[in-house]
Amino acid sequence: MNAAAPTRRDRALARGFARRFAREPQGLAVAPGRVNLIGEHTDYNEGFVLPVAIDRTVLAAFSARSDRQVRVYSLEFDEEDSFSLDDIKRLKGDVWGNYVRGVAAVLQEAGYRLTGLDMAIQGDVPIGAGLGSSAALEVAVLGAFQHAATLAIDPRDQALLAQRAENEFVGVGCGIMDQMAAVMGRRDHALLIDCRSLETEAVPLNLDAHGLKIVVAHTGVRRALSDSAYNQRRQECSRAVQVLANVSVAGPVGTLRDITSKDLAAHGGSLAGPLARRVRHVVSENERVLKSVEALRQGDLLAFGELLYASHQSLALDYEVSSPELDLMVELARGVEGVVGARMTGAGFGGCTVNLVRQEAVDSFRRRVIEVYRGRTGLPAEMHVCEAVDGLRIIAGADAPASHSPQD
Ligand code: GLA
Repeated sequence: MNAAAPTRRDRALARGFARRFAREPQGLAVAPGRVNLIGEHTDYNEGFVLPVAIDRTVLAAFSARSDRQVRVYSLEFDEEDSFSLDDIKRLKGDVWGNYVRGVAAVLQEAGYRLTGLDMAIQGDVPIGAGLGSSAALEVAVLGAFQHAATLAIDPRDQALLAQRAENEFVGVGCGIMDQMAAVMGRRDHALLIDCRSLETEAVPLNLDAHGLKIVVAHTGVRRALSDSAYNQRRQECSRAVQVLANVSVAGPVGTLRDITSKDLAAHGGSLAGPLARRVRHVVSENERVLKSVEALRQGDLLAFGELLYASHQSLALDYEVSSPELDLMVELARGVEGVVGARMTGAGFGGCTVNLVRQEAVDSFRRRVIEVYRGRTGLPAEMHVCEAVDGLRIIAGADAPASHSPQD
């Protein structure tokens, strides 16, 4: 957590906070969305992932209260949720209030003593786009509760608690990648996460030096994890683990992380139906993540781009989580000179692609990918050129944004 001067957007949120609660915020928690460069559907198999935290964030302006009430106002939805810390119930339906309630509930279950809070939230991470908007919300809220109650929580635990809020309170079975990126992302770096040990390593991207940009392209098809085949894929992976644990692979098999391509070649025959393909994706994707890190270290961005294309193929054919729209987006991107690599990103079935694009080709990407795609599908595709930013930041004390500022 490090301090930084408030932006216009921060101050606009402070004004929203002051209008709602008739006082100034004590601080601001900022948590980013993420785009996963490579390592898809590997996190819940204890594999490797390589996301970047992006400059699309959720902001939570907050002030502690002297009682046990929590009042949260969402600027985007123009809705308020309020609850007591002594009686946190889940709201019906897939509503944003549950993410806030869930974070408060898991923090208390873990033994942290919270204070009541007034909070105003605003985000510009596209929702349902596969860019980690839920994790950004959870982590920003967690940062607010933590700071207001002066709690010491290690970054890894912050991510695990935020994930637990989503898994156990909201009821969505996500892995750990999004929360880790929202907490520990680093400016101009990608974050290599070993989802078994939760060790991380910031890998320099050096995109400017290579004249490259990360372009996220939204297919215009929203996806919701809960109605997708996400849980089904997780179950398939668990079934495959059970089968492989009973045949003789080198060591014990707790998750697909324990399987190598050699094991798969020797024992894949025992996996029925689509299971062998599912495992092939996970095993090969883990290898691609490690090769990607190597390529980035060597400055071989072309090799990295090829790994992105290969990842897409594997997700489309072996893991079967792509969609005609995602495939079209990647195919169009591949035909544009200056696009170095492209793949679907996030859980799939809609949402976004991530593209590595030469700076001078960003305009042709807009014309030849986004506009052509819109023409062919009639869907409202959009693109975002993203920067890699730091994870959770708290702006407080003298640096906290105020509703009245001479800079406005
Ligand atoms: C979603 C989940 C992540 C991860 C990806 C697939 O984004 O939230 O934990 O499983 O899908 O890689």
